[in-house]
Amino acid sequence: MSEGASKAQEKRKIQAIKGVRDILPPETALWNRVEQTAHEVFATYGFSEIRLPIFEETELFARSIGAETDVVSKEMYSFDDRDETSISLRPEATASVCRAYIQHNMQQLPQPVKLYYMGPMFRRERPQKGRYRQFYQIGAEVLSHTGDLKDDARVDAEVIEMLTTFFEKAGLEGTALYLNSIGCKECRPKYVELLRAALTKVKDKLGPDSQRRIETNPLRVLDSKLESEQAIIEKLPRIAEHLCPDCLEEYTEVKKQLAMRGISYAQNFRLVRGLDYYMRTTFEITAPGLGSQNAVCGGGRYDGLVELLGGPPTKGIGFAIGTDRVILSLQDMRKLPVERALDVYVAWMGEKNYPAAVKIARRLREAGLAVELPPGEMKFGKALGLADKLGARYALIIGDDEVASGQFTVKRLEDGEQKKLGERELVAYLKAGEAP
Ligand code: HAM
Repeated sequence: MSEGASKAQEKRKIQAIKGVRDILPPETALWNRVEQTAHEVFATYGFSEIRLPIFEETELFARSIGAETDVVSKEMYSFDDRDETSISLRPEATASVCRAYIQHNMQQLPQPVKLYYMGPMFRRERPQKGRYRQFYQIGAEVLSHTGDLKDDARVDAEVIEMLTTFFEKAGLEGTALYLNSIGCKECRPKYVELLRAALTKVKDKLGPDSQRRIETNPLRVLDSKLESEQAIIEKLPRIAEHLCPDCLEEYTEVKKQLAMRGISYAQNFRLVRGLDYYMRTTFEITAPGLGSQNAVCGGGRYDGLVELLGGPPTKGIGFAIGTDRVILSLQDMRKLPVERALDVYVAWMGEKNYPAAVKIARRLREAGLAVELPPGEMKFGKALGLADKLGARYALIIGDDEVASGQFTVKRLEDGEQKKLGERELVAYLKAGEAP
């Protein structure tokens, strides 16, 4: 590189990587509110938080999500560690929860074990509104080695009830719940063959992706958004009509349990989900204002996954909420964040009065007030202008007279009302006028 070119390179503005974004204030206040809602609601259902690593052995995801899935075969950020173990940034967290369940012998704890997590996930998808390469999930999993089919259905329904409570408390309106059962290792292969046969008959009417999937994964054809395939898909055999007796019993019971809880849903035979570990109950929740990426939550049952990862036979059910999409939908509904308002702007004048300003600012902050103390001296007019711009409710004026008399001048910016108060009365006065 020539010297000129390397100079230009040095000056190049470095931007965040494609599909990865900064989440800025005041939007972060909305994120905190949504995450706080999850902490509170999930705790009322007896869930505890687990914090998981951001990266794991690639093998963990390949084995659980499935080596042939898009997520594992195309979308993972993988690299070789120095000892040449292949490592991947996590594309989801169910696999990690199961790994942790095994690693920490959680089968010895009272069952079921109910865990939730929140944090970033990574998938190298084509970025668009609501679809990012680093995105955030709030997820929960219930793992247990006990219980019969009826118990399982009750757990499924309770997990969905918790989700509806969460969305309600988060203020998300217009959500819709879609439900399906994708059978088990007994009945699904038979259905897949039936589906493959039906698809083969209409092969020349399908697009190239679906034609390929007849061989690789016929279930994924049901996922197709291609306009020309929609009428064909409507006529394909539906898995709910080909469930084995156990799967049918659980599916029927889940629907009964949801009805008993007053939760409305629509059955969607096309809901097959893109991860291999699912069996029986699968569900998705959509929200308005998101365009084509309108799924704000996906989940389902995954009995057998813990076993597949080398643990004891274990049942599992869980979900993950796409936090980015929840935020987008809330913003679309104009449910904008309310950031903590600034209570007091300290307009101090005269270098020698700065220590007094520091002292009073600390005192007010200790009392729980939000205080802005500018580091440099400012003209009175400029300080008031800034206080106004920052939305402060009060300006506290500290100059020679105030320091000498111990009486501070406080100005309510809304109406200009001014008072002179000693330190103790000042705290009481500001606290009384605090925003709710
Ligand atoms: P998933 O359907 O792959 O399931 O993802 C769950 C949710 O994460 C989606 O409904 C969506 O809201 C959000 N999401 C996924 N990919 C992106 C992306 N690229 N950008 C923005 N949001 C995205 C799972 O991950 C399973 N682990 C859920 C689960 C837990 N099943 C059982 N337990």
